[in-house]
Amino acid sequence: MRTPICEKLGCEVPIFGFSHCRDVVVEISRAGGCGVLGAHLFSREGLEAELRWIDDHVGDKPYGVDVLIPGRYVRDAEVSEGPLRELVPPAHLRFVEDLLDGAGIPPLPEDVARQVAQDRRQTERNNTPSGAMKLLEVAMRHPKARLIVSALGTPPPELVERCHALGKLVGALCGKPEHAARHRDANLDLVIAQGTEAAGHTGQISTLVLLPQVIDAVQGKLSVLAAGGISRGSQIAGMIAMGAEGVWCGTLWLGTRESDLLPFQKEVLFRSRAEDAVQSLSRTGKPVRLLRSRWSEAWEREDAPRPLQPPLQEVLVRMAVPRIDRAGRDDFYTTPCGQAVGDVNEERTVRSVMVDLQNDYLEAMERLSSQWQRYTV
Ligand SMILES: Cc1cc2nc3c(=O)[nH]c(=O)nc-3n(C[C@H](O)[C@H](O)[C@H](O)COP(=O)(O)O)c2cc1C
Repeated sequence: MRTPICEKLGCEVPIFGFSHCRDVVVEISRAGGCGVLGAHLFSREGLEAELRWIDDHVGDKPYGVDVLIPGRYVRDAEVSEGPLRELVPPAHLRFVEDLLDGAGIPPLPEDVARQVAQDRRQTERNNTPSGAMKLLEVAMRHPKARLIVSALGTPPPELVERCHALGKLVGALCGKPEHAARHRDANLDLVIAQGTEAAGHTGQISTLVLLPQVIDAVQGKLSVLAAGGISRGSQIAGMIAMGAEGVWCGTLWLGTRESDLLPFQKEVLFRSRAEDAVQSLSRTGKPVRLLRSRWSEAWEREDAPRPLQPPLQEVLVRMAVPRIDRAGRDDFYTTPCGQAVGDVNEERTVRSVMVDLQNDYLEAMERLSSQWQRYTV
């Protein structure tokens, strides 16, 4: 299963795994793949602590760090100094309060609410260009973080040069071949062709259609990974046959034993089907594939205000989520989630998922080879 990206990065198999949970990241890398930590939920100090922990537990394996640098966002969020909540229109705040109160979800006790607000203040500007840069400064100090990835948009040239000088590879996600061409011209090392099936910020093109177009667009200058809907080794074989150097998965790890989701959240995932992963503006103001719930449905109502541009919609999410979690309300549970959730049916270890992916890949290759011999030779 080794491909050129394995040589460049120093991993054994080209299976990349995105997660916000450090245990998942470490287990993927230790099982031979490359775990990638989503950084945007952490304060700078928090990220430093997470990366130190990963360094201590990952051995000599590589891992990656991913940040969100949105092209379009509310400029005031970057220049203002007060809490971002002050920039949220009162009608939006009222909508969320009424929604949760109306559903009988109790407000947080005062001391908890104070702590939550304080934590939020430390991370709420992470998804602005300057906020993302501050997180990257932290990642730069960690040599085992061999891969830096931009979730949205092409990273600026200074960043690419600095990463290269430090011996790091730079990657970025894309949902259209035009984005991939921009990444190619910016001298990146890796592009992740993320189809609409995927969890998170997604476009409209499926992985099967997007991947070959992205491969054409990069003209052999970058490694291409396929992302979106991948939960089986047979799909990895298919993607590699199409010219990908590997795959990048996110949804698959949500239900693993190492994932830090609450038990009730994992249960929701286990009973969800592919069609429950829908695109919605309700998390960030941009189209995100997520698990349908009463939270996402509320924002589709006629009386709902228009979701806000990044990073302000996330302020509303981060106000609501601690209340929903504390109340254990599975009907309101909201998380980015891809159509691959239909294959996430029980709690398993990351290692067993990695082993199954590889065995299933080998079976697919054997099937292909025996068909080839039977019908072609
Ligand atoms: C809970 C969750 C949060 C995500 N957040 C981000 C993010 O912050 N940055 C990013 O580049 N991708 C994010 N993604 C998308 C993944 O990087 C990946 O592209 C996607 O999950 C692949 O498709 P799949 O979900 O079908 O495996 C997220 C995915 C999940 C499941």
